[in-house]
Amino acid sequence: MRSFADSDGDGVGDLGGLRGRLGHLVDLGVDAVWLTPWYPSPMADGGYDVADYRGIDPRFGTLADADALLAEAHALGLRVVVDLVANHTSEQHPWFRAALAAGPGSPERERYFFRDGRADGEEPPNDWVSAFGGPAWTRVREADGRPGQWYLHLFAPEQPDLDWTHPGVGDDFDAILRFWLDRGIDGIRVDAAPAMAKVPGLPDAGHGPGASFESRTWVGNPHWDVEEVHDILRRWRRIGDSYDGDRVFVTEAVVNGPERLSRYVRPDEMHTSFNFDYLTCPWDAARLRSVIDASLAALAPVGAPATWVLSSHDETRHATRFGRADTSATTGAGAPADPGPADPALGLRRARAAALLTLALPGSAYVYQGEELGLPEVEDLPEELLQDPTWERSGHTVRGRDGCRVPLPWEGDRPPFGFTAPGVAPWLPQPAGWGPLTVAAQRADPGSTLNLYRSALRLRRRVTATAGNDLEWLDAGDGVLAFQRGRSFRCLVNLTASSRPLAGWGEVLLASAPCDDLLPPDTAVWVAAPG
Ligand code: GLC
Repeated sequence: MRSFADSDGDGVGDLGGLRGRLGHLVDLGVDAVWLTPWYPSPMADGGYDVADYRGIDPRFGTLADADALLAEAHALGLRVVVDLVANHTSEQHPWFRAALAAGPGSPERERYFFRDGRADGEEPPNDWVSAFGGPAWTRVREADGRPGQWYLHLFAPEQPDLDWTHPGVGDDFDAILRFWLDRGIDGIRVDAAPAMAKVPGLPDAGHGPGASFESRTWVGNPHWDVEEVHDILRRWRRIGDSYDGDRVFVTEAVVNGPERLSRYVRPDEMHTSFNFDYLTCPWDAARLRSVIDASLAALAPVGAPATWVLSSHDETRHATRFGRADTSATTGAGAPADPGPADPALGLRRARAAALLTLALPGSAYVYQGEELGLPEVEDLPEELLQDPTWERSGHTVRGRDGCRVPLPWEGDRPPFGFTAPGVAPWLPQPAGWGPLTVAAQRADPGSTLNLYRSALRLRRRVTATAGNDLEWLDAGDGVLAFQRGRSFRCLVNLTASSRPLAGWGEVLLASAPCDDLLPPDTAVWVAAPG
């Protein structure tokens, strides 16, 4: 929302801007739009610190604007999915303010995890770590001004974790979910789902000093992917199922492998889940094939559709990532301080090929705003403008996620490129050279990345509609991914350094780069099989 389009000239994207640009989404050919949190928030973590679950942040608009967005989107055939952040609130939420004021031992503190510290209160109650670096505990000053208890925050200190064993927490979130479903949202994206339950007694996790938040490697962790998370998801699913229409629940769950992930999409839990194994996979044919196979195999027994995603508001844009020596690098507290230089032309070439691969796979695909323009990561934002808590929490060693959140370029040849009123500085500065990447410039260019996405999304609707969920691998030699879906739809991706013959594979429907009878390196094609 903050980076899509601004309608009131304050340099921050808003509901009015989104409503004014819904045509872009229709023209692009997507089915639904997922909005990162729109609730009132101090924005310590891009809105993932919610101070009121039943409102809209004034920077974004009003509840009336949200209602208008839902009506207009629905009239255009677009669904709207909103983020539900239930592991933690903002430190400004009235529940947390009340808990701080009420003091140790009060019922108000039971909604959160307040504990006495170890070593006479001087040390955190356990060894848990924050996703943004450093310990997951912060010590408060009690009413008498003295250092007192500690509270748990698996993310930033401004994001205290809720204790879901408190009955009031679940009851309140039932009502919050109904509040938005009643207003007509089509679904929720469940933020940080694996964090929502903790092992009773909050035992040490065994994290060593300086440990980072590597949730994809954790097994039996006491604060991540704990069994009781699934009770919460089932509870929400029951509420969703009690509504008419198709409501879709998607979870964000960065857990240890596809089998653990499949547990989040059992028939009575979420409908789908983001696929982080795919998102973080390097540009390597064998690795991609094994992630695709493992994803499909793990989901088959629970009957959930797969999802595919290349970028998000939390990760380095893939047009940059794929141009680096290490194509798997991601941001976050565990990211390398210097991921190395990127070759922008190579990155974009691979990004376009990756888009055709992703959109050819069975299941649903997520497009992160701006990837349809081939936007790169902005790696030179001035340090004083960085807003991601990772920057502060890492002691200014990891820049964090701002580089993928730079406002979209819509038109014109200089900032703000139609994102906000002329002369207004967007909340993060856009590179001066983004003129050729604007939506307007790319619409006019048949070979643009925007037009590749538009064509792919249209063809995907047509050719994969009858293909079901099947995927049959075909042999096109080492380093080339080739598969068929349905009777005739084929996708080939050349991840080698040399061109490969295309003859015999069928009629080319769409290509990520010009090709004749050869498939050049880092290129993907969709073909209709002969006969
Ligand atoms: C999710 C969000 C991320 C946020 C975090 C804490 O990972 O995608 O942006 O910082 O949750 O709410």
